[in-house]
Amino acid sequence: MKESTEILISEQTIKSRIDELAKEIMNDYRGNPLTVVAILTGSLVFLADLIRRLELPLRIALVQASSYRGKTTVPGTLHVQADLLPDLRDRHILILDDILDTGRTLSHMKEEISEQGASSVRTAVLLRKKGRQVIPMEPDYCGFEIPDHFVVGYGLDYNDEYRNLPFIGILPESSGQG
Ligand code: XMP
Repeated sequence: MKESTEILISEQTIKSRIDELAKEIMNDYRGNPLTVVAILTGSLVFLADLIRRLELPLRIALVQASSYRGKTTVPGTLHVQADLLPDLRDRHILILDDILDTGRTLSHMKEEISEQGASSVRTAVLLRKKGRQVIPMEPDYCGFEIPDHFVVGYGLDYNDEYRNLPFIGILPESSGQG
């Protein structure tokens, strides 16, 4: 890594918050079977950590969605590749995303999955950026509200790098914003 990344949320803080989120989710679903639909690629670390704390009959499904290509921190067209999704009819669905920014990805996915006949559809995000949302929607579970910085680590990337950082960091200015 060329320049050190400023830590916004430490590994330990993320761990404690995920413990709390898992308790909230288990309390709400009360032993009912759940399918967690994770939006790749950014949510993969969140998915791995959260599901190991969920004591529920659980299935995992994956969907690829992206609005950022290569060296940019400005969102472009939303691309969704849903062909990995299993049959979600009559299932309780929890859609998982790394970050709620404009709200386009999560609202699109929620609509698409509801149309497939799920019994219920809820959403969980690890992060929510303040002052950025253009599509009004409230996630059912949210880890942290953060200021409007481009963040990396714990699954989140810039140009497909930094995903392996164990904390959430602020992308160094010199990495080429915009
Ligand atoms: P929307 O705007 O659809 O965005 O709510 C959600 C998706 O945009 C990506 N995103 C980021 N990725 N650092 C990242 O690495 C960020 O600060 C950031 N803001 C948005 C992310 O893929 C998310 O799923």
